Amino acid sequence: MIMKKVLIFGGSGQIGRHLIRRLTKKNHIVTVVTRNFHKKGAILKTQGNPGYVEIVEANVFDEEQLNNLFKDKDICINLVGILFEDQKNTFKNIHINFPNIISKKCDEYKLKQFIHISALGIEKATDSKYAASKLEGEKNIINNFPKATILKPSIIFSVDDNFSCRLLTLLSILPIFPLYYNGKTKFSPIHVSEVCEIISNVIDKNICSDIIECVGPEELSFKDIIKKLLISIEKKRLLIPIPIQIAKVIALLFEIFPKPLITRDQLKILKHDNTLSGEFKSNIDIGFKAKLKFGDEIFKYSFMWKKGGQYSK
Ligand SMILES: NC(=O)c1ccc[n+]([C@@H]2O[C@H](COP(=O)([O-])OP(=O)(O)OC[C@H]3O[C@@H](n4cnc5c(N)ncnc54)[C@H](OP(=O)(O)O)[C@@H]3O)[C@@H](O)[C@H]2O)c1
Repeated sequence: MIMKKVLIFGGSGQIGRHLIRRLTKKNHIVTVVTRNFHKKGAILKTQGNPGYVEIVEANVFDEEQLNNLFKDKDICINLVGILFEDQKNTFKNIHINFPNIISKKCDEYKLKQFIHISALGIEKATDSKYAASKLEGEKNIINNFPKATILKPSIIFSVDDNFSCRLLTLLSILPIFPLYYNGKTKFSPIHVSEVCEIISNVIDKNICSDIIECVGPEELSFKDIIKKLLISIEKKRLLIPIPIQIAKVIALLFEIFPKPLITRDQLKILKHDNTLSGEFKSNIDIGFKAKLKFGDEIFKYSFMWKKGGQYSK
């Protein structure tokens, strides 16, 4: 197979950390851009054999640095995203302006592929700033680089995620647990290794100009997810549906902290199911059916939150 030169933005995150190894194993040469080499370099440089991973510290909005990064690449993958805003990192800047700039660079430097990771279920959450910004980002990308492929995953889980691990920590501490919207919102959780397999498929099959929703093998309500987590750590908790007005007040309080557990904007997204819309292709249509079930996979790492485990309280 012909190896490609792949430029990854946001490669130190959950997907990136798993993706780099997968791509370097296939002999692709990966350049990962990070804002902080000293903080992220240690994990990034172990993801491939010497010569296969280049780590570049850069301001991703700096035109000159971007030109140098794009000039000899075949593929660009954008994994940069945020769940909440602060004064500098706004949804507009990260989800609209940044993809706008790099999709233009893909066109200018005639890249073969641009793979952008957006999110599932954002079409319905029209009142969410996160969702609206992700959608506008998608539109700009298609306009600037029509060959782009946009992947829209449901919630992604893994041993090093911010989702199941955070929930496991909360469930191991709290005697009661709040359920928003009665815990009825549905998700199709997908394991990070399978998201990376989809990205790898998009490269191998040279898929261009497509929007692909990425889902796991099951549809689970939020309550199902919490129950599976509780079973896996052998704990019983009182699950209490809370009215949305109270949830908003709690979220407002969380927003004071630098990394809020939940925000009022996220509550707006949680109102809508995060499952296949039927409007776009899915990973199954490109020949990849996810197999890894949420309950089976969390069982492999949830022991750390069980009684006597490293994180048990
Ligand atoms: N994880 C999920 O459940 C999920 C579900 C649906 C969609 N997605 C989308 O998939 C993409 C990747 O997700 P992920 O979970 O891998 O993300 P992540 O773990 O949060 O990592 C995102 C990366 O983006 C970079 N980044 C963040 N803010 C930045 C900024 N202001 N300027 C430049 N770089 C910045 C960071 O890299 P450095 O610190 O190294 O610069 C970080 O490692 C995101 O767009 C996300 O919205 C994720």
